[in-house]
Amino acid sequence: MMGDNVSTSDGAAVKGKGERGEPLLEVENLGKHFPVTQGIVFKRQVGAVKAVDGVSFAVRKGETLGLVGESGCGKTTTGRMIMRLLEPSFGKITFEGHDITHMSQGHMRPLRRDMQMIFQDPYSSLNPRQTVGSIVGAAFRLQGEQPQQGYKAAVQELLEMVGLSPEHYNRYPHEFSGGQRQRIGIARTLALRPKLIVADEPVSALDVSVQAQVVNLLEDLQDELDLTYVVIAHDLSVVRHISDRVAVMYLGKLVEIADRSDLYERPMHPYSHALLSAVPIPDPSKREGRQRIRLQGDVPSPLDPPPACRFHTRCWKAQEICKQVEPPLQELSPGHMAACHFPENTTVSATDLVAKAAVTPGSATGPADTPASKD
Ligand SMILES: Nc1ncnc2c1ncn2[C@@H]1O[C@H](COP(=O)(O)OP(=O)(O)OP(=O)(O)O)[C@@H](O)[C@H]1O
Ligand code: SF4
Ligand SMILES: [Mg+2]
Repeated sequence: MMGDNVSTSDGAAVKGKGERGEPLLEVENLGKHFPVTQGIVFKRQVGAVKAVDGVSFAVRKGETLGLVGESGCGKTTTGRMIMRLLEPSFGKITFEGHDITHMSQGHMRPLRRDMQMIFQDPYSSLNPRQTVGSIVGAAFRLQGEQPQQGYKAAVQELLEMVGLSPEHYNRYPHEFSGGQRQRIGIARTLALRPKLIVADEPVSALDVSVQAQVVNLLEDLQDELDLTYVVIAHDLSVVRHISDRVAVMYLGKLVEIADRSDLYERPMHPYSHALLSAVPIPDPSKREGRQRIRLQGDVPSPLDPPPACRFHTRCWKAQEICKQVEPPLQELSPGHMAACHFPENTTVSATDLVAKAAVTPGSATGPADTPASKD
């Protein structure tokens, strides 16, 4: 049905699962600047790593948001701020309608188990001296709840749910393959019955052959347990299957956010276009005519990001305005937002929208985004 597209408060569309309701998580103008200091006795700040510099998005209940971008663009920092494992420098995080941005550890405690993180390296996050039973069981105990059927039966049920065997209960992490260890990590996470899971590169340490299995598992569990995901990856192919919407980050900023099919079929930001051109296409008949865009140079340092559009030093479409005026992230078609003066796959240019917004106050403005950082 046409009405499948639901516009959210951040202007983004949610397809299919949109009807599931309210945003579970909202992030507004969120930022993290890590101070860089000099001196041993008298430390003074000489700069800041602008790891995340004003990102805004919302994730609805039951939805999966893919967060992608090259190494160092701020994905993990964003995930850790959402989890409140890192204190934000500025901005706001709302979870189930509660402002949790600077909530004290004491107030956060009841919310802690609602929000869980799955990490990239399944081995380092599992205690090698504990059996699978005690690793997963500890999560149950942490809740202070005694499962009706007893700890062992409850853990074994979870092991089965993630595709492991109940007999694995007494085994140690080193006895498992990478994919199986990630399943143990997922079982431990599920024992806490979270509402939101931030999965940070959940499959990038795994063999390509098992990556799809773990992604499928996450997808099955989502339907079964009504989970909401933020899945972080540097590769657009990993999040393609699982995401309802995809957000693309570059050097601490969100440059595009759209429904999955819109983003993959009609990317508007040149950076998303370049990332997509590197995604392998399994069907040879669809490969024809597609050109791989090789980005020139390295990602600039977040210590001193380029002014205005941060991508201008690597963008083949860059013009003078790109070096002078930061393109705001704004909605260029229903639910599709991009931050570019010369976006692709649209007849509207963001610059036109900015000009229009200036004439008609209150129109065509996107969600809270950071002011141009030219410092
Ligand atoms: N504690 C810290 N102190 C100073 N700089 C940091 C700290 N943590 C991260 N950074 C810097 O912040 C930037 C963003 O890091 P982050 O780990 O969020 O990137 P990422 O997108 O997750 O990258 P990757 O794909 O490699 O995991 C990087 O330049 C990183 O070096
Ligand atoms: S604003 Fe300019 S430099 Fe930035 S992505 Fe768009 S065209 Fe490229
Ligand atoms: Mg990371």
